[in-house]
Amino acid sequence: MSLAGRNALVTGSSRGIGRGIALKLAERGAHVGITYYQNEQSAKDVLKQVREVGSDGFVTQVDVCDADAIDRLIQRTRSEFGTLDILVSNARSEIPTFYEPPLDIAAEKWDTACNSQGKAFLLEVQKAATIMGQGGRIIAVTYADGSRTGSWLPWVAMGSAKAAMESLVRYFAVALARRGITVNAVSPGFTEDSVLNSLPEAVQDMVREWHGQGWTPMGRLGTPADIGNVVALLCSAEAGWITGQTIYADGGASLVSGGLPPAIQGWEASPRDERQVAMPAASEAEMVR
Ligand SMILES: NC(=O)c1ccc[n+]([C@@H]2O[C@H](COP(=O)([O-])OP(=O)(O)OC[C@H]3O[C@@H](n4cnc5c(N)ncnc54)[C@H](OP(=O)(O)O)[C@@H]3O)[C@@H](O)[C@H]2O)c1
Repeated sequence: MSLAGRNALVTGSSRGIGRGIALKLAERGAHVGITYYQNEQSAKDVLKQVREVGSDGFVTQVDVCDADAIDRLIQRTRSEFGTLDILVSNARSEIPTFYEPPLDIAAEKWDTACNSQGKAFLLEVQKAATIMGQGGRIIAVTYADGSRTGSWLPWVAMGSAKAAMESLVRYFAVALARRGITVNAVSPGFTEDSVLNSLPEAVQDMVREWHGQGWTPMGRLGTPADIGNVVALLCSAEAGWITGQTIYADGGASLVSGGLPPAIQGWEASPRDERQVAMPAASEAEMVR
């Protein structure tokens, strides 16, 4: 499934899942626009890796909470590539900018989450569509667990913002269907080498242990390369009949019900290895503040 000759723009591709997506698109031959917010050198390193696999691209800075910056991003893309075939809206503002429970969250944090997701996606797609030809591909990276559940209380703003983004995916899918442009959301499960790196080691270990026990049936966290592969599949010509969907790329995690103990469901939560992870003194929510 070659993407040779295709031009792609991946927001938030200086690290994490965005980097994994950029590299997988480049491996298949796409030229990639790489965006960063603060880590310019990291973005330049990604471009170097893109070139090492025989493709090319450019690096630019964007704050997706800033409407004018999104405008400049698409203008830059036009001046670099002329046209755009693939848009991946992946960037997410940093956890401290939006992480507060529903009864405490400040309006400013709510706005940051919403601006970085629903509003950014709205503006990116409106502007990208002006330089996208027949058969384009638009992908929103969401976290559908956060958008459809309510138990991770300090995630309320980002969960709500992702829900708006997923809704927009469906509306844009219809609006762009006659141009053969597909619009889909990809929903990763917890993923290695991502925002996870910014959490305390003990929290990282708890998350790995939890999923290794069977809460992700495949028994491990995903990787940015796993998610990049799924995005590349959706960008292929063969995926042209899939539009308006949220694709779970999570090793089956979204299939597991929390409504009954695993033994009653017919499976046993079992440690991935003999390592026991000590419970930290503070709750997970307090530790990631
Ligand atoms: N990690 C997971 O387990 C997981 C699970 C499900 C869904 N997701 C989704 O996957 C996407 C990527 O997550 P991640 O964990 O890989 O992210 P990450 O490692 O935290 O990286 C965030 C990326 O976004 C950029 N960024 C930060 N603030 C920005 C802003 N205001 N404007 C523009 N760019 C900004 C960063 O640039 P700099 O490097 O320059 O700061 C970086 O490239 C997000 O949409 C997230 O919701 C992640």
